[in-house]
Amino acid sequence: MNRIIMFTLILLSSHLFAQEIDTIRLYPPDLSSGKLLMQALQERKSSRAFADRDLTLAELSNLVWAANGINRTEEGKRTAPTARNRQELDVYVVLRSGIYLYDAVKSLLIPIAAGDFRAQAGVQDYVATAPVNLIFVSDLEKLGGDAGDQECSSRINVGYISQNVYLYCASANLATVARGSVRKESLSSTMKLRPGQMIILAQSVGYPKE
Ligand SMILES: Cc1cc2nc3c(=O)[nH]c(=O)nc-3n(C[C@H](O)[C@H](O)[C@H](O)COP(=O)(O)O)c2cc1C
Repeated sequence: MNRIIMFTLILLSSHLFAQEIDTIRLYPPDLSSGKLLMQALQERKSSRAFADRDLTLAELSNLVWAANGINRTEEGKRTAPTARNRQELDVYVVLRSGIYLYDAVKSLLIPIAAGDFRAQAGVQDYVATAPVNLIFVSDLEKLGGDAGDQECSSRINVGYISQNVYLYCASANLATVARGSVRKESLSSTMKLRPGQMIILAQSVGYPKE
């Protein structure tokens, strides 16, 4: 078989067998669900043991909206504040099926990479067992100013998102833990991040293991 035919066959087969994942259309947040804020604060905690069960689409929708969704449509403002309203933080969602980018304006999870990359989302064993790992990524170019200030702002801003996730999880009986430990280099490459984008923090979420 000549080389050109062989090359064409390899290209065709890799195309045929390449995994594809679909865009996930999220539900609007259920504003009447969950516990009272004071009860959620009482129950907020870090948990590192997850049941092997995926979240429902309704829970996933509520989770990402609580994290950094738009709560004032006319102004495009969000559930978490950012210094000077720069909104430089993106939420990437690592699921069993692949990695997605949360589009808060369109209420979508946009596919970034197909496949189970949960083990790449952290360095501790429990990370690969959590059905959802959120990765909070700063687009430093949106911040302006000098590099040190930019990073410092993003580290503060991400705390609000992470606490929103903690409180939503407490209110919905889900387990969660914020994580500074992430395989930043390999995950940035899998997530196809640009040089100006930086992983700041991760957070694992799931049902508590019984
Ligand atoms: C910025 C930040 C980074 C963290 N990184 C990790 C981590 O990499 N791995 C981990 O198991 N827990 C991590 N945690 C969770 C803390 O260990 C936990 O919040 C702390 O022990 C207090 O427990 P509590 O959240 O139940 O109050 C992190 C928490 C924060 C706020």
